[in-house]
Amino acid sequence: MSVIDFDHHHADEVEKEAVRDQSLRETDIVWNEAYGGYWVVARFEHVAAIVRDHKRFSSAAGVNHPSPVAIPALPIEADEPMHREYRKVLIPLVTAERVATFEPSLRQYIADILERAIADDRPWDVVDALALPLPVRAAAAMLGIGPDDFDDFERAVVTMNAVTVQGNEEDQRRAIEGAFAMFKLGFARARTRPSTELDLFSMLVNARVDGRAMTDDELLGMALTTSSGATSTTTEAIGFIFYHLAASPALFARISIDPSLIDRLVEEVLRIDSPVWRLFRTVLEPVSIGGVDMKVGDKVMLAFGWANHDEQRYVHPDQIELDEKRPTHLAFSAGVHRCVGLHSARLQLRLIVEELLRCADSVQLASPPAPPRSHFSTRGFDELKVWLTGRDRALADATS
Ligand code: HEM
Repeated sequence: MSVIDFDHHHADEVEKEAVRDQSLRETDIVWNEAYGGYWVVARFEHVAAIVRDHKRFSSAAGVNHPSPVAIPALPIEADEPMHREYRKVLIPLVTAERVATFEPSLRQYIADILERAIADDRPWDVVDALALPLPVRAAAAMLGIGPDDFDDFERAVVTMNAVTVQGNEEDQRRAIEGAFAMFKLGFARARTRPSTELDLFSMLVNARVDGRAMTDDELLGMALTTSSGATSTTTEAIGFIFYHLAASPALFARISIDPSLIDRLVEEVLRIDSPVWRLFRTVLEPVSIGGVDMKVGDKVMLAFGWANHDEQRYVHPDQIELDEKRPTHLAFSAGVHRCVGLHSARLQLRLIVEELLRCADSVQLASPPAPPRSHFSTRGFDELKVWLTGRDRALADATS
């Protein structure tokens, strides 16, 4: 068994890639000494087996290690049978059919932002102008956050996401308290509305889990995971899709010529730069995985982002492959906790590429971005400056 000493909160990209490569090379699973010790699972086959084995690998003991929030983030930090009860409350809000109804308004929102960026004709920060606001807007629509609650929702979510990845513990505590205050206001307003309304706050306050109403902590845990999970992850994915198109003119040209490849591009970017690069599980029963015996209480880091680069599953895993359909990836996990927001995430990413192709002739990096930040479970750019050239401008330049 190989032993490493690696700090998943503080390692930089270079160190992480070295550990990723080592974990993928080892014949068995690696043990990391940091944070009291835990298994680092990077091989696709093992990560997939563990997420599907929820009877032996618990999420309720925390999917982050150490856990940043005092109450469980639900439904992600619940095990069966309660997990199923929590998850089913959210399902009516996140179905593919419901999400599709928001396509026209989200498309317009994206088009307006891109057209403004083209008209401005100067380096434009994808993160600030699009990747942060779009997922908040999409989440608010999907979760039925009405105009009365929107400004508070946006402020709470943006602050919370920013400090989760950048702030110190005190900032994080304050931001989470701010978000909780906002959610409590949302619950209070929802209690005055008819119980049939299709919005997150109404559905939570009217839900029955295990035959009873949810406690205050359960309500907050559900609102927290849903709003933060919907936004921080999609923000990272938007940065990456823009990055790949801006860094590779050949990729941009290929997609422009054949837009039927957009869905494949979206999946490849989610695979190659997975926004949730790792989460944890805790062993509930003695189990043997990948040649190692794990005992009850052991922590296990599931490196989704690394599993998505496993050479045993993907040929040339570090390249974007559009010619052939790749085997499925783990960017949204698998098993009972598989992401409920994947329809919304995929829709936003597809619409961005479609609108970019419609209004821009090229996208280029204005400067090389700083390496992605990844000390929390998500990984992404804090700033990504690009130049967009509009189709009209490119045509005018060509004919003048
Ligand atoms: C590109 C964007 C996204 C990525 C990469 C992503 C990734 C993930 C992953 C990896 C998990 C599984 C965790 C596990 O196995 O423990 C998950 C769960 C979850 N995601 Fe997403 N997510 C994204 C967008 C969204 C959106 C838009 C929503 C909006 C509702 C959302 C809500 C959730 C919830 C509520 C769970 C918990 C599901 C459960 O425990 O049953 N996510 N997500």
